[in-house]
Amino acid sequence: MKRTHHCNQLRPEHAGQTVTLEGWVHSRRDLGGVLFLDLRDREGRTQTVFDPSDLPPAVFDGATRLHSESVVRVTGKVRVRPTGTENPRIATGQVEVMVTVLDILNHAEVLPFSVDDPEVANKVNEELRLKYRYLDLRRPEMMRNLRIRSKVAIATRSYMDDHGFLEVETPTLFKSTPEGAREFLVPNRREPGTFYALPQSPQQFKQILMVAGVERYFQLARCYRDEDLRADRQPEFTQVDIEMSFIDREDLYALIEGLLARVWKVALGMDIPTPFRRMSFNEALNRYGIDKPDTRFGMELVDFTEEFRASTFKVFSGAVGAGGVVKAMNAKGLAAATQGQIETMTEYAKSFGARGLAYIKVENGEWKSPIVKFFSEAEKQALVAKLGIEEGDLILFAADQWLNACEILGRIRLYCAEVLKTQGKLKLDPTRFDFLWVVDFPLLSYDKEMNRWYSSHHPFTAPVAEDIPLLKQDPKKVRGQHYDIVVNGVELGGGSIRIHQPDVQKTIFEEILQIPPEETALRFGYMLDAFRYGAPPHGGIALGFDRLIAILCGTTSIRDVIAFPKTAKGTCLMTDSPTTATARQLRDLYLEVKTAKKEA
Ligand code: AMO
Ligand code: AMP
Repeated sequence: MKRTHHCNQLRPEHAGQTVTLEGWVHSRRDLGGVLFLDLRDREGRTQTVFDPSDLPPAVFDGATRLHSESVVRVTGKVRVRPTGTENPRIATGQVEVMVTVLDILNHAEVLPFSVDDPEVANKVNEELRLKYRYLDLRRPEMMRNLRIRSKVAIATRSYMDDHGFLEVETPTLFKSTPEGAREFLVPNRREPGTFYALPQSPQQFKQILMVAGVERYFQLARCYRDEDLRADRQPEFTQVDIEMSFIDREDLYALIEGLLARVWKVALGMDIPTPFRRMSFNEALNRYGIDKPDTRFGMELVDFTEEFRASTFKVFSGAVGAGGVVKAMNAKGLAAATQGQIETMTEYAKSFGARGLAYIKVENGEWKSPIVKFFSEAEKQALVAKLGIEEGDLILFAADQWLNACEILGRIRLYCAEVLKTQGKLKLDPTRFDFLWVVDFPLLSYDKEMNRWYSSHHPFTAPVAEDIPLLKQDPKKVRGQHYDIVVNGVELGGGSIRIHQPDVQKTIFEEILQIPPEETALRFGYMLDAFRYGAPPHGGIALGFDRLIAILCGTTSIRDVIAFPKTAKGTCLMTDSPTTATARQLRDLYLEVKTAKKEA
């Protein structure tokens, strides 16, 4: 007997039919000697009934010995459930299958955690779930995530194909290009002391493919970065990697907006409005204190530099005098914060460089704050007018250099939003998606410790054409043709129009980034060479595929949308990797392991 239906399919109109189902024993109940087993497969659940008065004793006995998650095949007749016993929570809740034949395909031992409990993700620690990932994945929520991931991958391929893109695979045994995140190295057995590196992204290959004349390339590319891991970062992750020739930024925006519209339709059945909003890097920092703003709620940062330029409150006027700014935000409804909570917030701000976090609590019609005594009437009026201060508000200030002040309050803004969410005062609609292009990033950032410029993104990003003359005179003013796509405060992807002229690229490497010519030749020589043989103007983008799926699935952890993710320490708990190598393997690779002596 072969499976005739999946466990989500049976309805009252199947009553009287003999069907065969295969799957896992999801749950069991014993009611007055009759046994009810809920059978589950990938698609859903169906109730099966073992009635001892209708069954040979051996079959009934077999059923009573089944643990949850054993694998069975059952055959029986579908019947409409007696009135009052329907289960409206499952699609097949109006029917049940009266079993006549039971094949036990495999017994399951007692499980380390219950697959049947909808609260597993909250109750069971994630390490246990990762160790028994195959059980965790049986949960319908996880199966739904895998399904959305698969659908979106297929929709992406089909959209890219519709738009004339070729899917090209690029190597994952690549060359070390120490720039950006730390790399994973792979020792080369054939030449002692030499290494491949796993690619952080196919960036260089995709640009070379443009020189090769591919014109439109994409790939669902696996990338590797040995960086500190968080909920939105894995050591290996997937990008929807894209590169196109003969385009400008507008072409790219339109392509990605169309792709995301298709993806949202396929995954969630939603029509998302295009084109997306755009915001410059400067505006994003000024208003939200971050280059990936969550624009679903306000609490925007407001500038008070002019108001406090000559203030008697030296913390503020001093910062302005030193070329800095004063910024403030109104955390609406947070005045009830205790002294302890304000201290925690201040310590949090200090952990990323704030010198303090001045505040005003507006409670019982009074401004409670250690600093208002220094404020003039005019200063107070300006605060009321520009921050819309009302009873119950908490005003927070940062006085610092522009970027620091913005970033400090930007983080505090997100912190306050989390607090307001847990207090139920900030409610975000889970079906709201704020898409935003962040543009006009500075091409270069300055590293004070190293006393040199480095690329804000990567060294292949083209400067905005009219800013090229500033490259040598005033590098900080040069804008890059870089863009980030942001959704609800998550950086979903980023890309740029690239440099395609070998001389401009060489200037960036050698004169701006100060990479010695020998090193440029060693690391990027093949690219500069390629650009000499007819490189078309080109540009592209990479979307973080795991982040995309996490947003669609409504989860904040990309571990929930990766079948076999790693922990924050980079380990796979199921296979217990990484492991040590045998002496023989090490010898073959000409490697020696020097372990640091363990402290007693
Ligand atoms: P970038 O480094 O910005 O750009 O990466 C693009 C997108 O990849 C995702 N991402 C990650 N996802 C999970 N875990 C990680 N560790 C991780 N790191 C990055 C993010 C990010 O926005 N080659 C360029 C793209 C280009 O210029 O075309 C690049 O890799 O969502
Ligand atoms: P102080 O005069 O250093 O005691 O600071 C008075 C108040 O201003 C305290 O609440 C500090 O947390 C706050 N403060 C100090 N420096 C800054 C700064 N650079 N930006 C914002 N607030 C600050």
